[in-house]
Amino acid sequence: MPTAIEVIKAEHRALNSVLFALHVISRKALRAGGKPDFPWLRTLIEYVDRFSERLHHPKEELYLFRVLERRTPELGRSIARLRREHAADAGHSIRMREALANWERGDPKAGPLFVHVASDFARFNWRHMRREEREILPAAEAVFTDADWRQIDQAFAANRDPLASSETRQECEAALRLLQPRQA
Ligand SMILES: [Fe+2]
Ligand SMILES: [Fe+2]
Repeated sequence: MPTAIEVIKAEHRALNSVLFALHVISRKALRAGGKPDFPWLRTLIEYVDRFSERLHHPKEELYLFRVLERRTPELGRSIARLRREHAADAGHSIRMREALANWERGDPKAGPLFVHVASDFARFNWRHMRREEREILPAAEAVFTDADWRQIDQAFAANRDPLASSETRQECEAALRLLQPRQA
């Protein structure tokens, strides 16, 4: 079983790549004056919602932040900020969905708005993950007990994020295709 730290870092890389792809694909389409592949962008947003918003963030809060707050109170402010950022992520995701739906309907302002939100989200998330990896994970390595590790390792092993465990481009594409796009 991979350790929680390995899973968290792999999920960070996967999310980072998806957010970067959302920005690059949409910007390219906008610059070319055309339309992006809307179902594909919806699939990428679906990944963000399903794996980051519903699994990764809640498990960090439950098995990482909560334990660290108890054992390392001086990290309290930093953890409070990370929790606020998780909540803000949900807002980014909603704004992206709305802008994408409006873009598909032909709203001329929606394309530039989508590119802007995707870029913001990618940068915001990259900084968030970097803080977790530089500050929070090393702190956990210093103070977690064997029992803490057993719990968090089990929790993250159950995520089975298909993208985080993919190694080749083909595997990544196949993993994403399994996520059915929702109707706009
Ligand atoms: Fe996080
Ligand atoms: Fe994270």
